[in-house]
Amino acid sequence: MPAKPLATVRTAAALRRAVAQWRKRGDTVALVPTMGALHAGHMALVTRARRLAKRTVVSLFVNPAQFGPHEDFAKYPRDEAADRAKLREAGVDLLFAPDVAEIYPPGFATAVAVSGLADTLDGVHRPGHFTGVATVVAKLLIVAQADFACFGEKDYQQLQIVKRMAADLDIPTRIVGVPTVRERDGLALSSRNGYLSQDERALAPTLHRVLLDTAEHIEHGANIDDAVARATSELTMSGFDGVDYFAAVDAETLEPLDRLDRPARLLVAVQLGRARLIDNEPLKPTSRAPAAGSGRPRSGTRPRGGSSR
Ligand code: PAJ
Repeated sequence: MPAKPLATVRTAAALRRAVAQWRKRGDTVALVPTMGALHAGHMALVTRARRLAKRTVVSLFVNPAQFGPHEDFAKYPRDEAADRAKLREAGVDLLFAPDVAEIYPPGFATAVAVSGLADTLDGVHRPGHFTGVATVVAKLLIVAQADFACFGEKDYQQLQIVKRMAADLDIPTRIVGVPTVRERDGLALSSRNGYLSQDERALAPTLHRVLLDTAEHIEHGANIDDAVARATSELTMSGFDGVDYFAAVDAETLEPLDRLDRPARLLVAVQLGRARLIDNEPLKPTSRAPAAGSGRPRSGTRPRGGSSR
């Protein structure tokens, strides 16, 4: 039996109408914003959204405002037909796939800037990127009026920025973070992994291995600055083309951390050939205070590969 075609709307007004009808019936709604080129990471967000709410909306919009002038907007992978097939198969209720003029009509003049959170880490290396993200996500949340919106921990800084923005603007959508989906060798799935050559692809999982090792060292009392410096040089020596940052930060404010005395996160960005890879891992505060050089045994219990956390 042929599957029902995926219902699709391309205007904000049509999305608003569809959601309003559901809400009138008492149905809850979850939104999954994407830029398409869907992989299992995106589909994990869809699965979570379907568990959270009666209705699931996915948006597909390659947002020009979040790409820098020398970034890959023109070359970003686009395959709406393949994406539609995956979303239909996954039981998504509605696809919102606007064109650029629908989101940014002539005269569009508003930007949503999240200061502090957006000025660090990737914000330093991609000026304007997070303002582009926050602006489009604010629009999507306002139009979709969803009860929940799902975002991947893969883009951890983005997730924290979206949470802050939604709270600051009193947008009543609950922002839900979903753990990173990885290849078996630990590489976080990304639409941009296709840019990697065979050799680069073979090196790429080292990024996650170094993250896990560094997290374990720090959780077992290593000095944070020393552990980060060691990780950075290990990445450089193993063949990555540059480490944009490797940082241990507060899990919510993303402020730098010198002691593991609260929930924290390791965040990393590296250049590898034409690709820029980002990844992150949680750092759990240990009740045993970090007395440097205490020679604590390593637990070796961190999961490798599969979903993080
Ligand atoms: P995109 O890169 O398409 O990602 C869409 C969503 O999928 C984001 O929330 C991202 O964190 C999540 N995601 C990507 N790879 C993942 C993985 N391996 N595991 C789990 N989740 C993953 O992020 C964007 O688009 C855009 O910035 C967007 C939020 C849509 C605004 O334009």
